[in-house]
Amino acid sequence: MRRETPPLIDPFQRAITYLRVSVTDRCDFRCAYCMSENMTFLPKRELLTLEELDRLCSVFISLGVEKLRVTGGEPLVRRGIMTFFRAMSRHLESGALRELTLTTNGSQLARFADELAECGVKRVNVSLDTRDPDKFRQITRWGSLDKVLAGIEAARKAGMRVKINTVALKGFNEDELFDLVRWCAEDDMDITFIEVMPMGDIGNEQRLGQYWSLEDLRARLAERYTLVDTPERTGGPARYVRLAETGQRIGFITPLSHNFCESCNRVRLTCIGELHQCLGQEEAADLRKVLRENPEDDAPVVEAIRAAIRRKPKGHDFDYSRRTVAGRVSRHMNTTGG
Ligand code: GTP
Ligand code: 5AD
Ligand code: SF4
Repeated sequence: MRRETPPLIDPFQRAITYLRVSVTDRCDFRCAYCMSENMTFLPKRELLTLEELDRLCSVFISLGVEKLRVTGGEPLVRRGIMTFFRAMSRHLESGALRELTLTTNGSQLARFADELAECGVKRVNVSLDTRDPDKFRQITRWGSLDKVLAGIEAARKAGMRVKINTVALKGFNEDELFDLVRWCAEDDMDITFIEVMPMGDIGNEQRLGQYWSLEDLRARLAERYTLVDTPERTGGPARYVRLAETGQRIGFITPLSHNFCESCNRVRLTCIGELHQCLGQEEAADLRKVLRENPEDDAPVVEAIRAAIRRKPKGHDFDYSRRTVAGRVSRHMNTTGG
């Protein structure tokens, strides 16, 4: 593949090497902090086809993107999605892409784990906020914990490393902190905790009630374990510690208590071809239009991507510190998959 030079650099001198692609806004769960119960999804005719997704992602890779994460909604509910993974695996083989991976709710993993591993996926991030089946049903509204656990097992059997993503939720999973950490240590999985962000309208009161600061979570962990900061990075926003007692790795994603935007390396493509330069801002560029107007020529697409990166904002403005929700973004998380 021809490498375009120069690579993508934003106005704050950050190199953009990580693309997150949401392949569908649909999901078979309705997590209470992510969606409202009655969501309207995009009509199927609006979606980029799998061929268009391939073409756009390949252009990004020619522009220096080395890490591609497939998200949703739930990416594994998109029909034919393995065709897309297989197509992207050619960029792993050529060496242009360093990592092809996904973030999933795990519900369909048992079905797809082997194929994903064959496509070169080495790591998968699975969202799981509780190990209690009743609480799991309550927070996901529609999900089954057993299915997700079977999915995790299948992924590990297929040889992939699993990282658990847990949204820290006040009064909901505080009491499970040590149980979750112990479970991950036993099964040799990393775990990353995430602060809940004000994405989409689910009621401001509810949002503030949900927020459990990771400073507090960390302090509680430190009551039982020795936390050793490590400079290890996986290319995402998490900062990691290792527990001296177990050696396991624990990540913290802290958009509220500690901003990490200065080291941002990523942009997000939605399933209708909008490029979101920042998770925490409203702005986006319509790449689908440019793509469809130029079926044979990638040059205008390259130019549209460069123009969008030149408008990448400095960071998000999420803030709960004044007992109100500031910096809220109108779209729900399922548009971009985090
Ligand atoms: P690895 O480090 O490769 O494991 O992945 P990651 O942390 O980049 O990906 P993952 O999908 O596990 O992301 C976890 C969560 O971090 C996302 O769902 C978002 O909630 C949050 N996150 C990721 N990137 C950003 C970002 O740029 N800004 C903010 N505010 N949150 C982000
Ligand atoms: N704040 C923080 N994380 C969220 N996720 C979904 N909605 C939110 C939110 N409002 C998480 C999911 C999953 C990842 C894709 O984003 O739990 O781990
Ligand atoms: Fe679906 Fe993930 Fe949103 Fe839950 S957080 S509703 S699993 S997209």
